[in-house]
Amino acid sequence: MSYELSFRLNGEPVTTAVEADESLVWVLRERLGLLGTKIGCGTGDCGACTVLLDGRPVCSCLLLAVKAQGREVMTIEGLGQPGRLHPLQQAFVDHGALQCGFCGPGMLLSAAALLARNPRPREEAVREAIAGNLCRCSGYVKIVEAILAAAEAMTGREAV
Ligand code: FES
Ligand code: FES
Repeated sequence: MSYELSFRLNGEPVTTAVEADESLVWVLRERLGLLGTKIGCGTGDCGACTVLLDGRPVCSCLLLAVKAQGREVMTIEGLGQPGRLHPLQQAFVDHGALQCGFCGPGMLLSAAALLARNPRPREEAVREAIAGNLCRCSGYVKIVEAILAAAEAMTGREAV
């Protein structure tokens, strides 16, 4: 059975038909053409599909799309633009924080949610915020450094 789903996506209203059992990541990628959100495991384990739902990170592979009705969803396409990167994206570039990049969208959105609620996080808070985002390539050290550097850049103060 199809439903009409309306929600805000990266600040813009969208309406699309969805099936009752469709996951949000499927709708984002296949119905709305936003391919930045990745599918790794499809079972809630890797965090590659992380999006922000009303500002909180969620695994969009586990979330039924109908649950987004009337809510605000942010994907990586909403974080920055080519030529106008978000400070987190710039810090990831500057620190060489990504290799294959598959974890990047989810990692960046988890980091963005952290900095929205805690603009000057300690390293432990950064590691906790990205604990649900697995990276098979980087070893995490540069990712953590990049998030701390972005916090510093965004607050204009030295991170602690
Ligand atoms: S694809 Fe959703 S957690 Fe892995
Ligand atoms: S950079 Fe390859 S999975 Fe993170």
